[in-house]
Amino acid sequence: MPTLLLLPGDGIGPEVMAATRRVIDFFNARGAGFELVEGLVGGAAYDALGTPFPDETVAKAEAADAILFGAVGGPQYDSLSYEMRPEAGLLGLRKHFDLFANIRPAICYPALADSSSLKREMVEGLDIVILRELTGGVYFGEPKTIEDIGNGQKRAIDTQVYDTFEIERIARAAFDLARARSGRVTSMEKRNVMKSGVLWREVVEQTHGQGYQDVKLDHMLADAGAMQLVRNPKQFDVIVTDNLFGDMLSDIAAELTGSLGMLPSASLGAVDPKTGRRRALYEPVHGSAPDIAGQGKANPIAMISSFAMALNYSFGMGTEAARIESAIAATLDKRIFTPDIAGGGPAVSTTEMTDAILAELELTE
Ligand code: IPM
Ligand code: MG
Repeated sequence: MPTLLLLPGDGIGPEVMAATRRVIDFFNARGAGFELVEGLVGGAAYDALGTPFPDETVAKAEAADAILFGAVGGPQYDSLSYEMRPEAGLLGLRKHFDLFANIRPAICYPALADSSSLKREMVEGLDIVILRELTGGVYFGEPKTIEDIGNGQKRAIDTQVYDTFEIERIARAAFDLARARSGRVTSMEKRNVMKSGVLWREVVEQTHGQGYQDVKLDHMLADAGAMQLVRNPKQFDVIVTDNLFGDMLSDIAAELTGSLGMLPSASLGAVDPKTGRRRALYEPVHGSAPDIAGQGKANPIAMISSFAMALNYSFGMGTEAARIESAIAATLDKRIFTPDIAGGGPAVSTTEMTDAILAELELTE
């Protein structure tokens, strides 16, 4: 039986996870056979066990076929040390399982073309992917310290570091992804000021030369890329970039789709040559949104689509994934919106949105 580890986390995480659980139950009632295991992560784990990344969560994750992750973080944890912050739980999972390839698709559903802050014609039909390197760069580079340098001065150091193999494997992932789409990759870095950008471009070029010439490759400086994303986003197909630039560019991409509440993501490890399987964690790109937590206002779509990505990438259930995507599109077509996409108009609750998506799923039996 396929096992899914559910890590709801903090803020709106538990609400969107509860919504997604209903979608999983829908497929289980029809024979999908997912075994669900729950675990603690982030602030919820810190509160219960004194650490945001408990060993027992790692053990459950080791045993699972895929992880569904809600969100972590909240203002009540602001004064904790870096290692004890809720985010350390998420970063710990990414690093522990070497989930280097973070796929963040930004699709603008037709019904939401007016919800974006960009003009309708700029985003209508938008379908791009940000492929973010997730286990390297400044997030994990050492040294990473704040030191006292005397005279009342401190020095903070973060280290941006990339090895050849890390760039090569994310470049390959980008080319493979592009082949299944419209065959174009734009690589973004800052080679004009960063050594890691120089190596990034060099290795992406080399990798492209090793059997990927059918894919069209372009390079862009990441700042110019950010500008092009809001100026003419449809020029892109797959954008491949490092951990920090990917974090920022994917939030921009989210806004293009109407709301941060719409974007799912998949974080994948390498394919195990023996089993043909890969480690995987699926999470919405939005955070824990503590300002709206517990009020039934959260948009469950990003979490539900993250489950659809799990069906696609971890379980070979592309038909079921497509059914979820169609159910979401049909729900939005009926102008059923949570507050984040309602543009001040009438809005439904998290539960009502989930009811509506489930009703659409039932219609497609
Ligand atoms: C994301 C988030 C995380 C990140 C935070 C919560 C650590 O912003 O997944 O984009 O910076 O990677
Ligand atoms: Mg982010």
